[in-house]
Amino acid sequence: MAISYNEQERVFKLDTPHSTYLIGIVDTEGFLGHVYYGRRIPDDNMTYLLRLGESRVPSIKNRERLSFYDALPTEYPGHGIGDLRQSCLSVETPEGYRACGLTYRDHKIYGGKPKLEGLPATYGGEEDCETLELIAQDRTLGLTVRLYYTAFKKIDAICRSVRVENTTGKPLRLDCVLSACLDMDNQDFDLITLHGNWALERMISRKRLGWGKQGVSSLRGISSHQEQPFMALVESTATQTQGQVYAMNFVYSGNFLGQVEMHQQGQLRMVMGINPVDFSWKLVEGESFQAPEVVMVYSSCGLDGMTHAFHDLYRNHLVRGPYKDKPRPSLVNNWEATYFDFNTEKILEIGREAAAAGIEMLVLDDGWFGKRNSDSSSLGDWFVNEEKLPGGLKRLTDELNKMGLRFGLWIEPEMVSPDSELYRAHPDYALQIPGREPTQSREQLVLDISRKEVRDHVYGMLHAVLSSAHVEYIKWDMNRALADVYSPALAPDAQGELYHRYVLGVYEMQERLLTDFPDLLLENCSSGGGRFDPGMLYYSPQIWTSDNTDAIDRLKIQEGTALVYPLSTMGAHVAACPSHTNYRSTPFETRGHAALPGCFGYELDLTQLTPQEKAMIPVQLEEYRKYGPVFRTGDYYRLASFSENHEYDVLMAVSKDKTIAVIDYVQVMTRYRLKSAHIRLAGLDENRYYRCSETGEVHSGAGWMFGGMLLPKLKGDFLSRLIVLEAVEE
Ligand code: GLA
Repeated sequence: MAISYNEQERVFKLDTPHSTYLIGIVDTEGFLGHVYYGRRIPDDNMTYLLRLGESRVPSIKNRERLSFYDALPTEYPGHGIGDLRQSCLSVETPEGYRACGLTYRDHKIYGGKPKLEGLPATYGGEEDCETLELIAQDRTLGLTVRLYYTAFKKIDAICRSVRVENTTGKPLRLDCVLSACLDMDNQDFDLITLHGNWALERMISRKRLGWGKQGVSSLRGISSHQEQPFMALVESTATQTQGQVYAMNFVYSGNFLGQVEMHQQGQLRMVMGINPVDFSWKLVEGESFQAPEVVMVYSSCGLDGMTHAFHDLYRNHLVRGPYKDKPRPSLVNNWEATYFDFNTEKILEIGREAAAAGIEMLVLDDGWFGKRNSDSSSLGDWFVNEEKLPGGLKRLTDELNKMGLRFGLWIEPEMVSPDSELYRAHPDYALQIPGREPTQSREQLVLDISRKEVRDHVYGMLHAVLSSAHVEYIKWDMNRALADVYSPALAPDAQGELYHRYVLGVYEMQERLLTDFPDLLLENCSSGGGRFDPGMLYYSPQIWTSDNTDAIDRLKIQEGTALVYPLSTMGAHVAACPSHTNYRSTPFETRGHAALPGCFGYELDLTQLTPQEKAMIPVQLEEYRKYGPVFRTGDYYRLASFSENHEYDVLMAVSKDKTIAVIDYVQVMTRYRLKSAHIRLAGLDENRYYRCSETGEVHSGAGWMFGGMLLPKLKGDFLSRLIVLEAVEE
């Protein structure tokens, strides 16, 4: 049983394989106290941790109610009545009262996990998880708040969400509805977050936790390149393999807040949810608001434990569709090969090379529609440019299919170019504030995707294009942040809903696409990895990781990404050299090894390769065929990080049955070494024996892990090796 209730102690106990979470109902008023989250324990009677005796509960000592409110470790803090830390819920009544505080009313415990209407979320059946639905109320307002906690039986993850129901008999305005709160004492924590910029997403930042509020956020309308909806508190001594880790990740693709507040004598409040800035929601009587989900992971065995929990959860209980457990096709994308300068013949030329090399799919990127010959026009005109592609997509895909290639297509449905037929016909479809020149980015404006008629219009065009030819893959791009966020469709006092309604609109469109084209492989993208978040993973099993395709920068980007997201979700391609982003040149082989752990492909002009490079493609494809499944479904270990050692990078994946392990080693900057570098492997079966592809040596898993491996000495910068360990019969 993953969830139980001790009626005597009035304590809920949620267990995952290695963690326990305890919630206590406190005092006659029924406050919801957060008792414990950490390593799995058998006890459910730990309410002494709430230190109630030290401040006295209100029923005994009402004169100190404020300090009780302000110090109680709380499950879900309200606002304005005395808990003066960050609140999670703030509502305003028609009278202008802005106070609320929750107490227990009822609860339900059931197998499985309810869907979140209109929102992405993890899923699981009765065999996978149990859910606690804690029904809380504000007695004065008559407000109902449902707190959902789902504990997974085989994965150390607890997924939380919140539903606010207006049962007050009056209209309300929600000003803040965060999705999770975790109060606890500081345990000498560091804070790990992922920050970045375009072409350098998800760089790992680790710093000591300080006093006051700190964290991550986005107000860009997307989760963003700059910050990730992810935070982890880790003991300062924690490593990949040791120490406690508390992590939160938000299953959402818009504005978010993730914050840790260290206050008073070192107590912490960690919260995550929709960013309350620029958010409000009118909630009329009888309506409810569903806040998105936060995934909480606890690991007592360092960052590897956290990473494995996220990877297993997302691969098995977030990603959906026909490609969930399937190898993803190797592909060639024409973006860096041609940019906008292509026609049918050029694409077919690339296709012929691709087919001859054994690549499975060709993806036609930006530039196939309207009059799109540069990035300054035509977004919104989703019909084929017959000047470039006479006979339309049908002719092109038929030709490619004849060669044995599958076909994929790029779209950017949320956007409109001022120079487009769509904009000329419907200027009001773009987000803009009356009387103010809208702010362009890449010469484009954002469509008001919150409006159904806008979604229907754009979707109708896309549907026609996708029905016109055999399109098996879609790259859904989104190339700018939101600005001028105003919608004529919403009342003046409802404009605070627009950012969230926009995200809901995107989700609705993607769901529609997957329903109408159930065999489609969807890849999300936002100028590279600007919307690489769990929300998007619910719709697309893979996301374009970054526009930076340089093999060396990719090591860092993919390392930060893989801290949370499975390798199977990362689009990774071999691109041309010098790199179009940073002008670095790296060997073709190294580019292959850097891309191999992800959804593998090529992003260069195959017709321009040297014979040696061409000859390497079938070798790389064979490696992808053989070892791709280990990266995609196995356990990932970060053995050595170039960001930390400034010399080399080693990642490893071990199949779940521990019969095969792949070690991806890139020597970035060589340095003189009298002796070779030494690493300890991970994840092997101590008692089995494994043969190393590099040396032919056979050692036990224990030997490889505790004795370690000597990395081959490579002579030069940017060189790489793929080393395979296969279990042998003794
Ligand atoms: C974005 C994507 C790229 C490419 C271009 C096309 O930048 O991230 O991969 O598709 O748009 O305009």
